[in-house]
Amino acid sequence: MKTVDVSVGKGYNVYIERGSIDRVGELALEVVKPCTAAIITDDKVNALYADRLTASLETAGYKVVKFVFPNGEASKNAGTFINILEFLASNHLVRSDVIFALGGGVVGDLAGFSAASYLRGIRFIQIPTTLLAAVDSSVGGKTGIDLAAGKNLAGAFYQPEMVVCDPDLLKTLDRNIFCDGCAEVIKYGVISDARIFDMMREPDKLDIESIIERSVEIKRDVVVTDEKELGLRQILNYGHTFGHAVEKCSNFGISHGSAVAIGMAVMARGCEKAGICSRDYREMLEDIIKKYDLPINTDYSAERLFDALLSDKKRKSDGITLVIPKTPGECELAKVSLEKAREILSAGL
Ligand code: GLY
Repeated sequence: MKTVDVSVGKGYNVYIERGSIDRVGELALEVVKPCTAAIITDDKVNALYADRLTASLETAGYKVVKFVFPNGEASKNAGTFINILEFLASNHLVRSDVIFALGGGVVGDLAGFSAASYLRGIRFIQIPTTLLAAVDSSVGGKTGIDLAAGKNLAGAFYQPEMVVCDPDLLKTLDRNIFCDGCAEVIKYGVISDARIFDMMREPDKLDIESIIERSVEIKRDVVVTDEKELGLRQILNYGHTFGHAVEKCSNFGISHGSAVAIGMAVMARGCEKAGICSRDYREMLEDIIKKYDLPINTDYSAERLFDALLSDKKRKSDGITLVIPKTPGECELAKVSLEKAREILSAGL
């Protein structure tokens, strides 16, 4: 079994193995004695995998209760959050019990924030079922919900006890959802390790276990240094600054991965025009993005995107931190004026 140890807080392991959904109970015993286990999941994932998770937990001695909500970002709100808390309370979960987040990013964010809040914090274990959750959102402790004013505006940094990633679960993903996760993997190539580009070059021959392992290692190396995103963790936002603006302009009709792909390409083109990265590198990056049917362009104007960008919660009032791609696997954080950010954005469109 591939294991990545994440030494944030008291530390936890990310286990990556085919078929590991059937071993979650046994693995969980390493960190939580038999108790009440609340599975939080969405209706899609529930139909596919909840029975296997339940069987594994019951075999290991856990008493299982389950909360299921409608799949999709629209559920990641205060209403669902409160319903989960009420569910946990009505099932008499105590602080020594445990939550299992079975699903993609929405499930992980909601279940993690519920775990952080219920009784001021009970333990939770992530079981990602999308590539995006496997390589990004299940690791690093960001949890939260959306507010009417924007995405992820309420939340907590709250680390799981363990992450169990079964790459076989990704087989049931629609191709576009799988490709959404590929955008985050490609991002790791830009910010940290050019070998990721080689791993991603042939979509039909992906060694998905190794890709997840390497991505999680890169994310681990960032979050152990800067859990609360005060500095280095901002490099994980490559492609996200302009990407979030695209998502916002589309009223979230454009998926996160597609928006990040556009954001990565815009940034690379803007940096090429500013003489920071080479044309060869920008072309290589765009070619890899396109292999996963992800977009590299947007029709939104620089003005609309910039307005959306100004409302991003990560923007500091006196400027903005951009992730600048230099050479494959090497980038730099640069705090620039809003005027400079607008210039790069306009040049990259
Ligand atoms: N997804 C970016 C982060 O976890 O910081």
